[in-house]
Parts: sequence; C-alpha cells; structure tokens
Amino acid sequence: MGLPVLSVENVTKTWGSGAEAHTVLRGVDLSLKAGASLALTGESGSGKSTLLHLIAGLDHADGGQITIDGQRMTALDDAGRAALRRSTVGVVFQQFNLIPSLNVFDNIAFQARLAGRADAPWAASLARRLGLEDHLRKFPEQLSGGQQQRVAIARTLAARPRLVLADEPTGNLDEDTGERVLDLMLGLVGETGTALLMVTHSPRLAARLDARAHLERGRITG
Ligand SMILES: Nc1ncnc2c1ncn2[C@@H]1O[C@H](COP(=O)(O)OP(=O)(O)OP(=O)(O)O)[C@@H](O)[C@H]1O
Ligand SMILES: [Mg+2]
Repeated sequence: MGLPVLSVENVTKTWGSGAEAHTVLRGVDLSLKAGASLALTGESGSGKSTLLHLIAGLDHADGGQITIDGQRMTALDDAGRAALRRSTVGVVFQQFNLIPSLNVFDNIAFQARLAGRADAPWAASLARRLGLEDHLRKFPEQLSGGQQQRVAIARTLAARPRLVLADEPTGNLDEDTGERVLDLMLGLVGETGTALLMVTHSPRLAARLDARAHLERGRITG
C-alpha cells in the first residue's frame, strides 16, 4: 500500500542528435501515491507532454527510472511497455486520439476491453456523468472538441487504470464544464484509488489537486 503508484527518478530526454539535439528533461523526479493527484505545470515547450509520453511508455527515456505499480517501465522493451500501459495506465492525450471508425460508446468501451476489464454498465455510467448519453451512437468527427475531450476522458476511466495521465484534459472545455469534469475525475480518483497526474495551464485548476509540480529548464522546481 505504501509504495507509490508512480515513481520517476532522474529521468532525462534529448530529442534529435548532433547540431539538432534539444535536451528537454534534465533529471526529473516525481512520486505519486494511490488515490493522490498531482498537477504538472510549465510553459509551452517545457516538456510536459514529453514527460507524460515517457511515463506512458510511448517513448524511451534516455536515462533514469520510471516505475509504475512496482514494475520498471524503463527496463521493458516495446512490447513490455505496451503491455504495462494497457493493464495499468490510462492516458488522456492532448489531441484526444479517438478512433475515427468507432462510435462514442465503442470508443469508451474499447480500452477497457483491451485491458480485460470490459464493463458496459460502468462505461454507460461514465458517459452519463460526462454528459455524453445523447451522443453514444455518433462518430468522433460529428462531435465538438469539448465533446471529444469528454469521450477521451470517459475512455480512459472506463478501463479503471491504476494511474491516469491527463494532458490538459479540460483545455477545450468552457470554465463550468471544465470544473465539472475535474470534479468527476477527482471524485473517481478518490473512489477507485487511482493516481492522477494532470497537465494544466490553469493555476485555478492546479490548486484543486493534492500537489503541484512545475517543469522549468528540464527540472521540477516545486
Ligand atoms: N517527437 C518529437 N521529436 C522531436 N522533438 C520533440 C518531439 N516531441 C516534442 N519535441 C520537442 O520537445 C519540446 C517539448 O515539447 P512538449 O510537447 O513536451 O512540450 P509541452 O510542455 O507539452 O508544451 P505545450 O504546453 O505546448 O503542450 C519542444 O521543443 C518540442 O519541439
Ligand atoms: Mg503538451
């Protein structure tokens, strides 16, 4: 129980090489316990999405260690990282990444099925709580940006991940809807013991999470 769900130790990442090399992360440390939430802030280009992608195992870290639920993401090959991500991590991407050929309900249910945790009533309840119940048979291209964002959130939570990584999950929502969606996410974190790492540009939203980390010049400054 006392072990963190997420532990990031001295993680480094440089994009490109030679004259093109651009070091984004210079030794990042983070830790997150079950049921806890952490807001990650930092200016545009500071490396927030890069860090989320490394934690999700979508890219290689150059150095350091990332451990999720006791498993070392940074020691796994591509297939191992994909398996750990499927079973344990949920990602709400900045660009949503919905599957265009699936309707809203199937988008929501899909990842839970991949994780071996298909649960249609739970998926339907999330859709209802996110105000999507009238859109279940539509396809992503028929939705507004804010509706797509809520589908991306429902899809992630539907799989009941131990760790949720959310990249500005309320960035396309008006203030009231953003507050409601954050309420729901924080409520579910409390209910299910999920850990939440959320990127946000909003100091007001960041203040509602348990802790804050600011990324600046490749390091966490507080
Ligand atoms: N796949 C990639 N290949 C090369 N460079 C990349 C790649 N992904 C990100 N970068 C670079 O790394 C830096 C950090 O980008 P990143 O997307 O992590 O920033 P961010 O903090 O998420 O910004 P924003 O708030 O605008 O979303 C940028 O300079 C970007 O150009
Ligand atoms: Mg980003």
